[in-house]
Amino acid sequence: MCGIVAAVAQRNVEGILLEGLKRLEYRGYDSAGMTVMHRDALTRHRAVGKVAALEECLTDAPLPGRAGIAHTRWATHGKPTAANAHPHHSDDQVAVVHNGIIENFEGLKRELEADGYTFTSQTDTEVIAHRLAAMLAEGVTLFEAVQQTLGTLGGAYALGVMSPQEPDVVIGARQGSPLVVGVGIDEAFLASDPLALLQVTDRFIYLEEGDLVELKDGGHICIIDRQGQRVERPVHTFEYADGAASKGDYRHFMLKEIFEQPAVIRTALEGRLGKTGVPAESFGPDAPGLFARTRQIQIIACGTSYHAGLVARYWLERYAGVPVQVEVASEFRYRHPVVADGTLFVTLSQSGETADTLAALRFAKGLGYVGSLAICNVPGSSLVRESDIALMTHAGPEIGVASTKAFTTQLVALMLLTLALGRDRASGDEQAAMVNALKTLPDTCRQVLLLDDDIEALAQAFAEKRHALFLGRGAHFPVALEGALKLKEISYIHAEGYPAGELKHGPLALVDSDMPVISVAPNDALLEKLKSNLQEVRARGGQLFVFADEGVGIDDSDDDVQVLHLPGVHEALAPLLYTLPLQLLSYHVAVLKGTDVDQPRNLAKSVTVE
Ligand code: AGP
Repeated sequence: MCGIVAAVAQRNVEGILLEGLKRLEYRGYDSAGMTVMHRDALTRHRAVGKVAALEECLTDAPLPGRAGIAHTRWATHGKPTAANAHPHHSDDQVAVVHNGIIENFEGLKRELEADGYTFTSQTDTEVIAHRLAAMLAEGVTLFEAVQQTLGTLGGAYALGVMSPQEPDVVIGARQGSPLVVGVGIDEAFLASDPLALLQVTDRFIYLEEGDLVELKDGGHICIIDRQGQRVERPVHTFEYADGAASKGDYRHFMLKEIFEQPAVIRTALEGRLGKTGVPAESFGPDAPGLFARTRQIQIIACGTSYHAGLVARYWLERYAGVPVQVEVASEFRYRHPVVADGTLFVTLSQSGETADTLAALRFAKGLGYVGSLAICNVPGSSLVRESDIALMTHAGPEIGVASTKAFTTQLVALMLLTLALGRDRASGDEQAAMVNALKTLPDTCRQVLLLDDDIEALAQAFAEKRHALFLGRGAHFPVALEGALKLKEISYIHAEGYPAGELKHGPLALVDSDMPVISVAPNDALLEKLKSNLQEVRARGGQLFVFADEGVGIDDSDDDVQVLHLPGVHEALAPLLYTLPLQLLSYHVAVLKGTDVDQPRNLAKSVTVE
């Protein structure tokens, strides 16, 4: 989704802004632009496509200056064209970059047109530039102009604003979209994400909803809150090493992140396992009280995180005896849920900035939940700050748009939650067996990743296909959903995940020799049922690709079945393990198809608009 970088420094900021945009590329975008204050005038370049296209413009005609704003745009209002790319200017008096959606822009636009302003883009953002210009014409400061303009905007925004009337000032604001302040030595920055600024600082202020910030020459930072009061926000030191956000020797971030899973799973477990269980304190000092009052759970998430929630439902109900509901955030936030007493509200999110998930949390606050728990990968994110308690997944920066290590570490966190809530219910032996299985999980994952070459060979069979079906049963049904999501988002092959028992209720009609059917078949209580479902596929001429436990007895002597064996694992952890081959399969199919693996078309890493 759109990315913002801004800087006010005592050196040329063009390179800082450009590097920041490159570091935000992972968020997904379709055009890029930059405005720099040069000799008290706004100078701008905008280009469609990758940041490299903007870089070419800068090579041909540099934009030197000590204050600037830059942007990567993910189109919402108007096609990806240079005219729609940000920054948007009003008569060279104001420049604006914006992430979010101004929902009342049409009315504002009509008013501004009536006042003589000419619009040069189809975006909602341009109204902000013209409104600010109108305010400045009345003689107010830039800060006051932004403050007054914000009062007229509906919807969500993170903004960066400049004007030649105050050439060494950049104003930022956030409401519903992320924005951080980078604190330098005698210089200050803004960005959608700390990763954009790690080349210049590791100290950040996370702006609160409704905050307005003024950055001035000399590193001066002034924040006022939504009540208009001057506030001091804490400065956090970013915990990741800068190298964590680079590809290293891997061809793609996604492949690097798949192979990081054994290590990050180990980190996610560190210090959280007791000898025979998981203490509630692992979730923070307030968790024991909250968990003691928890009778049921409502899980809310989007996309891959939603799939993690679906797996957790099987775990929490079976091993902790806690009733669980799971729903996608975009639906939940507009429902009228009936909240049973003692329901804990759990959100799952890699980024902690997903607009729908955040809105669902805010909506839930007035509904009588016993409390809220965020399971999240980004410390300091809005979701973490706004939840009662939070458990960090410690996966490190995930740059590939397709979520991999974030998903498996979410599953680890959810298994920890299951064990913490199930302490009094499950037998000591059962808990101890699961704790031991978790301890050896990183090594078991490592063994699965050794299948990479075999999976790459298997991928050949998919390169020419247009559709695929993924099947699983029980807690492996969400694994099938996740496998299908991975394949469709990075290879653009249409894929669906189904509970295998549902085949005969419709999707079997699609099965023929052109429809690859991928199944996960761990050795669990539903194995025999699954095997019957797979026979239904074979009987219709379908091509089967099965990831299975050793010795499950799936006959692969005929050409229509290929089986890859995975090492044995505690039944409860199988969904986590069986996810890995599906990630690798999607990856290799996408590489064969030549798609943009890390930044698939039309998608954004962090979906900060509704
Ligand atoms: C996963 O591969 C996706 N890119 C997407 O579904 C993602 O999981 C979803 O947008 C939720 O993001 P979050 O975990 O950051 O909230």
